[in-house]
Amino acid sequence: MFNIFNKKPKLPDYSFLGIDLHSHLLPGIDDGARSVGHSLALIEMLQKMGFHTLITTPHIMAEMYVNTPEIIREKQQEMQAALQQKGLEINLYAAAEYLMDEGFGNKIEDGKLLTLPGNRVLVEMSFFAAPPMLEDYLFRLQTRGYHPVLAHPERYLFLKGDMDKYKELKLRGCEFQLNLLSLGGYYGKPTRESAFQLLEAGLADFLATDLHHEGQAERLQEMLREKQVAKALWKREFRNGELR
Ligand SMILES: [Fe+2]
Repeated sequence: MFNIFNKKPKLPDYSFLGIDLHSHLLPGIDDGARSVGHSLALIEMLQKMGFHTLITTPHIMAEMYVNTPEIIREKQQEMQAALQQKGLEINLYAAAEYLMDEGFGNKIEDGKLLTLPGNRVLVEMSFFAAPPMLEDYLFRLQTRGYHPVLAHPERYLFLKGDMDKYKELKLRGCEFQLNLLSLGGYYGKPTRESAFQLLEAGLADFLATDLHHEGQAERLQEMLREKQVAKALWKREFRNGELR
């Protein structure tokens, strides 16, 4: 937790979040962990940074990563066994990160989406333009009882600075999940600025790692020592704790 006796904001670790809701830790099924060993190494790094629960979210895309709930559940069980064997005590669950591409509509209709607690569905879109069906997808998700969580809203630079559009997405039922790495400048300066804008506007519901590899874990570790990051997160409330 934050040290209230210390005048300067300081982040000892990420235990103030406790639950991570976005990462790519299941081996061999997307652009994240490549093997069981790699996955174990990443999970151990996250545990050392203060997370006690990981809801990992492999990509589901129509063409690039054709993952199904069955494939994901099977891999999650495989990793759970590996964690037990290694004696690593951490909760590992699985949901998915759905790209709102042309195939997404059918997945909504099937009604078998892999969800975060509270029937939330982690969704992402292209970094270059909003999908033409965006509003329709958001509406259909909710009529089926799902609640969309937009992954890394700060990374869609076509929305940068357009606070009205961000607020409209919120009114259309989206919760926002910011990437911690964005605050550290990992994806570049414009994304960093956008992340700070959303934070300051009070629009960030959740913070997550979106971890794919060790380099990112190392950066997350370094960020804990950076004043500007600590200052931005200091005394701010996030809703990660609701995801249990
Ligand atoms: Fe992701």
